[in-house]
Amino acid sequence: AQTDKELLYKIHEIANDFFQHQLFETEEGTTIAYSYFKERELRDDIIKKFQLGYSPEQRNAFTEFALNKGYSKEILEKSGLSIFPENAPNGIDRFRERVLFPIHSFSGRVLGFGARILKNNVKTAKYLNSPETEIYHKSSVLYGLSQGKQSISKNNLCLLVEGYMDVIALHQSGIENVVASSGTALTVDQIKLIKRLTENVTILFDGDPAGIKASFRSIDLLLAEEMNIRILLFPDGDDPDSFSRKHPQEYVENFIKTKANDFIDFKAEILLKEAGDDPIKKAEAIRNIVKSVAFVKNALKQEVYLKEVATKFGLSEQSLFNELNVQKQIQN
Ligand code: CTP
Ligand code: MN
Ligand code: MN
Ligand code: MN
Ligand code: MN
Repeated sequence: AQTDKELLYKIHEIANDFFQHQLFETEEGTTIAYSYFKERELRDDIIKKFQLGYSPEQRNAFTEFALNKGYSKEILEKSGLSIFPENAPNGIDRFRERVLFPIHSFSGRVLGFGARILKNNVKTAKYLNSPETEIYHKSSVLYGLSQGKQSISKNNLCLLVEGYMDVIALHQSGIENVVASSGTALTVDQIKLIKRLTENVTILFDGDPAGIKASFRSIDLLLAEEMNIRILLFPDGDDPDSFSRKHPQEYVENFIKTKANDFIDFKAEILLKEAGDDPIKKAEAIRNIVKSVAFVKNALKQEVYLKEVATKFGLSEQSLFNELNVQKQIQN
């Protein structure tokens, strides 16, 4: 007999085919969802490469399809794709009237889906994702890893973005060494997946307050896992998707290469802008930067970074060293 896990993989494979069929082969799919992707300027080869799909409006379209194929209510419920409330014995699809982004494992099996509404609407969450299941653990999956792993190895660099569309848009402009943490704060498990391929990460988050906050958090986590990092936030509220559609590939590549900063310059720029001329706030900013340096495990690298901070702010290495030790003790 098949184990539940094997069945869940199979159901996701079937669901993935079903949703792609809905997108390309049905009237509803082509008029509503395919046209949505076209509005976002996605090419057909990219839509197919990422196996994008559409879940129709009918509330149990997929559930009915899967029940007819012989899958049980129990396993459908476990897959997270269907729910069976008492007042709806025929089941209800989790994803309805949304475009779907299948989330693949490292080796390319579908584990779950991200699902976006078609019209920006304040009343419903823009993205809905698969729940935790026996095969989908969101904290240990990176969106785009399956499609990007070769390029990450080849370039010895992983670009880290926020969202599904960022990964896809960068692929469309020829940049394939990219993954997204997709709606969760970056985790150690996710970093370990990257580390199988490269130790170099460039963070490319949205240039909004949420993106800044997420990048500060990610910096410390990546440093603690002994990764080499650079950071770039896109200007004027752009994200990699919107930015890469405004500029040609070479410009985007060059922008990333030349504008990405090391974490000290990045944090200094943001924190010093906030601090202005206030010496207390300035000291707080420096302490914040030293806090990140304290996460660096390699002693030699740590000293190099500390020297950079000293030079940048015209401070003695001794006082920074004292602060470093304070921060290290706080962290332990
Ligand atoms: N996200 C999520 N749930 C939400 C909002 C966001 O899971 N309610 C995740 C999605 O993976 C999304 C990522 O966080 O791709 C980044 O969010 P955001 O920048 O708001 O969305 P975009 O990816 O830019 O989406 P779009 O361009 O489609 O508007
Ligand atoms: Mn598991
Ligand atoms: Mn955002
Ligand atoms: Mn975004
Ligand atoms: Mn976006």
